[in-house]
Amino acid sequence: MDKRIVSPGIAPEDQKEMSLRPESLHDYVGQTGNIDQLRIFIEAAKLRNASLDHVLLYGPPGLGKTTLAGIIANEMGVNFKVTSGPAIERPGDLAAILSGLRPGDILFIDEIHRLNRVVEEVLYPALEDYALDIMIGKGPSARSVRLELAPFTLIGATTRAGDLSSPLRDRFGIILRLELYSPEELERILYRSAKVLEVDLRKEAASEIAKRSRGTPRVVNRLLRRVSDYALVTNEGVIDSGLAEHALEQLEIDPLGLDQTDIKLLRIMAEMFDGGPVGIETLAASSGEERGTIEDVYEPYLLQIGFLKRTARGRVLLPKAYAHLGLPAPMSQGVFDFCEEEDEDL
Ligand SMILES: Nc1ncnc2c1ncn2[C@@H]1O[C@H](COP(=O)(O)OP(=O)(O)OP(=O)(O)O)[C@@H](O)[C@H]1O
Ligand SMILES: [Mg+2]
Repeated sequence: MDKRIVSPGIAPEDQKEMSLRPESLHDYVGQTGNIDQLRIFIEAAKLRNASLDHVLLYGPPGLGKTTLAGIIANEMGVNFKVTSGPAIERPGDLAAILSGLRPGDILFIDEIHRLNRVVEEVLYPALEDYALDIMIGKGPSARSVRLELAPFTLIGATTRAGDLSSPLRDRFGIILRLELYSPEELERILYRSAKVLEVDLRKEAASEIAKRSRGTPRVVNRLLRRVSDYALVTNEGVIDSGLAEHALEQLEIDPLGLDQTDIKLLRIMAEMFDGGPVGIETLAASSGEERGTIEDVYEPYLLQIGFLKRTARGRVLLPKAYAHLGLPAPMSQGVFDFCEEEDEDL
């Protein structure tokens, strides 16, 4: 991942984020629609004494997919086994993991869109019938043997739900999309983290930090840690608004949490394409950023703050973005009100 401080991707320093991870649904902030549903499904599975249906969690990086998977295991009171799509290279690797699971266990596969096809095919009967079909022997004498597995729950996480094959996606009974957090929710996360880190965080400072965190808990916690360093050295550990503003300025974080790449994308749209509509592929080619990175990392936040809109014909730059760039909005504002449809490549 890149090194910018507002990057929602995981950075080495975030390894410490384990200590800030909530462990129960009660402590998990936001995502209320998803959490309400999960509570019911978990309760029902427990009443039935059955394993929870397979769960797919998807959404931009740093929004709490891994955290939520761990919480589900805690709430179900079962073992939590963690692996990832790229780590499972051969069907045998997956077979070994699956046959080691005990009844009710949760298997978490991060980056599940990166599972290779042969491995994926071993997964299908496992998810559907709790069974493994193993080929024994080669050539004409080869035969398939079915092994029973313990009933288990797969939790898959991905930033790219669109990259999942449809037979795999269809095997998840519960599919939850995580959304960016509101500034108020980020503030609640900040207060909780400040308590864990034992720093004195004042109200206005919390809202200042939350506003610059791109709707992302990972970023909010990272900024809190950096600002805490300033507070410790210069302000007896107190994070008030003056300290927070000064520290954030020193860290070169834009008041909205935007960085140079966001600004570059916005400028390209304004200056090369008159504010759009511009297709995602064209935008990727013109900016030198990957399409997937624009879609997963940059765009969700720019959509949330009302700088961009997706239309049937591509991305359109909105007046708020022009104001932020200090550029005049184009006269032909007609583009702003045609077609609310999501665009072609969703
Ligand atoms: N709902 C939440 N409430 C409180 N803290 C949260 C919440 N969601 C995430 N966090 C914090 O943000 C950090 C990052 O979350 P997590 O690692 O679960 O994100 P992720 O979606 O798995 O990211 P990635 O896509 O990079 O794997 C966690 O360590 C936790 O401290
Ligand atoms: Mg994760």
